[in-house]
Amino acid sequence: MTSQPTQGKVTDIQHGQLSCPVYMIEGGVKDISQWSHHLSGQVLIVTEDQVAPHYLKPLEEALTTLSSVDHLVLPAGEATKSITQWSSILDHLVSLNAQRDATIIALGGGVIGDLAGFAAASYMRGIGLIQIPTSLLAQVDAAIGGKTAVNHPMGKNLIGAFHAPKAIIIDPTTLTTLSERDYRAGLAEVIKYGAIGDLAFFEWLETNAKALARRDPVILEKAIRHSVMAKAGVVARDEKESGERALLNFGHTFGHAIEALTDYDTFRHGEAIAIGMVMAARLSEHHGYAPSSTKQRLEDLFKAVGLPTTLPESLGPVQMIERMRLDKKNRDNSIRFVLLAALGKAAVYPIPEAEIQPAFDMD
Ligand SMILES: NC(=O)c1ccc[n+]([C@@H]2O[C@H](COP(=O)([O-])OP(=O)(O)OC[C@H]3O[C@@H](n4cnc5c(N)ncnc54)[C@H](O)[C@@H]3O)[C@@H](O)[C@H]2O)c1
Repeated sequence: MTSQPTQGKVTDIQHGQLSCPVYMIEGGVKDISQWSHHLSGQVLIVTEDQVAPHYLKPLEEALTTLSSVDHLVLPAGEATKSITQWSSILDHLVSLNAQRDATIIALGGGVIGDLAGFAAASYMRGIGLIQIPTSLLAQVDAAIGGKTAVNHPMGKNLIGAFHAPKAIIIDPTTLTTLSERDYRAGLAEVIKYGAIGDLAFFEWLETNAKALARRDPVILEKAIRHSVMAKAGVVARDEKESGERALLNFGHTFGHAIEALTDYDTFRHGEAIAIGMVMAARLSEHHGYAPSSTKQRLEDLFKAVGLPTTLPESLGPVQMIERMRLDKKNRDNSIRFVLLAALGKAAVYPIPEAEIQPAFDMD
């Protein structure tokens, strides 16, 4: 991988006619000079109580020259991605008399990004949104691509909208306060980009796994930058997920079933999809799509950065397949999986239910 400057604009993400710049700025939470021109009207910072103690004050201090800035601090955690909290953001905007030129700054991980993003998409049919993702998963994935959502008791991300941010500000220094577990969960998505579309990146990750695991800042910034570019490319080519964007779901069919069957409280999303990617790679090999060693290399890389790779004993094929069958895109007793044709090359394959069992086989 070639070396690039570490500050400033990484890329522009094309959302149809709209273009959304992604900035990588060390200390970008408190130095707004490169991105403050994207702000307008009433500004509302939406954040949560694990992130606020570190980054809310510096951000607000940086914004003091603006006339109207307010904040809303919500409880951390997936439960906050709810209709109730979405409604509380709208109430807050109404109480501030925010107009159509208002801006929401989403300061937090994917939960805040999705929730505050959906509030920005829906208030007055859409106001400005700036994403300041503070978790690795949000920096390389959730904040990019314009998908916003809240959960419904009957399903995750059931209510949402596409809403392109005006800008995305990645401040890699925010990752220093992220827990080890959340950091590693984010690495699963980084590795996914290599596995589905970029063998050279995958090999670079293999070489630098130890440095990544210990958050070496130079290696980490390169990995973030490369992941952002990978997702930006996919979004530009297939914003509404009619084709290529679906490949980003590699590992997610198994992963979502794992999360749902463990009530979303045993695994981080990244941990569940790491296990799911290994299962999908095993299935790819079994059906003769991918050469042998594909699964092993993927598994070795996950292990090297401290991610789980095996299904817990409590989850068996029968309940997993039953759960995966609920996925809306399945038909004719087949389940659609993103599988690997090789490391760096993915495609969607419908697999008859009777032929999924090998994914569960122990090596
Ligand atoms: N919109 C999309 O395209 C998209 C893509 C992937 C995931 N998501 C969504 O993203 C969410 C998961 O994102 P996540 O993993 O960031 O979850 P999260 O927002 O819950 O953050 C994970 C944990 O890290 C903490 N945290 C975040 N930044 C921190 C920091 N800098 N310092 C200390 N603690 C910090 C949070 O308080 C939380 O405890 C899910 O709801 C998922 O559905 C959305």
